[in-house]
Amino acid sequence: MNINVAILGSTGYTGAELIRLIENHPHFNITHLGAHSQAGKKVSDVLPGIASSIGNQTLAAADACLDDDIQLVFTALPHGAAAKSVKKALDSGKKVVDLSADFRHQSSDVYQQAYGITHPHPELLTQSVYGLSEWARHDIRHAQLVANPGCYPTSTLLPLIPLLQAGVIDNSPIIVDSKSGTSGAGRSAKVDLLYCEINEGLSAYGLPRHRHVWEMEEWAKGFGEQDIHIRFVPHIVPMTRGMLSTLHLTGTNTDTWYELLSQAYANEDFVRILPQGTLPSTKSVAGSNRCDIGLCVLSETEAVVVSCIDNLLKGASGQALQNANIMFGFKESLGLSLHAQWP
Ligand SMILES: NC(=O)c1ccc[n+]([C@@H]2O[C@H](COP(=O)([O-])OP(=O)(O)OC[C@H]3O[C@@H](n4cnc5c(N)ncnc54)[C@H](OP(=O)(O)O)[C@@H]3O)[C@@H](O)[C@H]2O)c1
Repeated sequence: MNINVAILGSTGYTGAELIRLIENHPHFNITHLGAHSQAGKKVSDVLPGIASSIGNQTLAAADACLDDDIQLVFTALPHGAAAKSVKKALDSGKKVVDLSADFRHQSSDVYQQAYGITHPHPELLTQSVYGLSEWARHDIRHAQLVANPGCYPTSTLLPLIPLLQAGVIDNSPIIVDSKSGTSGAGRSAKVDLLYCEINEGLSAYGLPRHRHVWEMEEWAKGFGEQDIHIRFVPHIVPMTRGMLSTLHLTGTNTDTWYELLSQAYANEDFVRILPQGTLPSTKSVAGSNRCDIGLCVLSETEAVVVSCIDNLLKGASGQALQNANIMFGFKESLGLSLHAQWP
């Protein structure tokens, strides 16, 4: 079975990563590549790393990518813009995986608080499935619209959910300290991301309440018995890709936590619980769709959990392809059997 695919926002970091992944997929066939300011140019002129015949295609304006022969659309667009393209794609009967934040919240009020804009299509929020693949397979399988989770929420929720489900964590609050490579901010030019501003430096940002906190708290709540309170401090570090989140946790029965995490992910292709005492590193996941998780128990009531993902893969395009595989009934790992790039 061949499925024709359009990627909107194909000239950005997550869009280009989708091209790289999907070109090796046995059933998804890229037929349309969309762009905004770069529409009309040849793909290889904007993405010189693409050397296959797809590089000879012309980048289309987003709306030109919704022809009848397309069955699946990835929207890798800025929030706000994504919702408008998603609406058109759904209206023309296509399945959609949206990488933006536009459909990650159940309420337009929460979206407005987090993103500071009025949601362009609040009527569609109830249709979307929050696509944290390992925890939403059943709903993703039946969805027409999947909201791909954010990178920070993915790296936080994967280690947190098994512990919340078991009721062993105090919510007082849950402290999450994260570091991200600069590709997390996208390809558009920003002074804060210039080489001289970033290189050999480390900075915190996003306080007092980064927009991903609403997403983490909303989806973590579904797995526990109480409202979740997360204190989250993100940092930007001088690396291209990679994300490391450290969760400082207090609770009960910490001697059972390793077993809880191991059992939850025992049969998963993309979540690996490292041997006790081993902590993960971004170098071990960069270029792969994996989330590596390490646990260090400090006392009967305290532990630190560290998780690592590649923000462009498990944090974006890799998980998006994993979700598309689920939507079309393919093996979840198709096109994603990638080891980390090392060194
Ligand atoms: N980067 C990450 O690690 C990451 C992780 C998870 C989720 N996300 C989310 O994924 C989405 C894409 O992120 P990215 O990092 O790939 O962004 P990016 O590198 O900045 O790329 C943005 C893409 O959207 C197009 N675009 C820009 N403004 C547009 C508009 N007003 N209307 C339509 N298209 C427009 C651009 O086209 P032109 O180049 O032609 O202008 C480009 O193809 C964002 O919503 C982001 O929050 C990103």
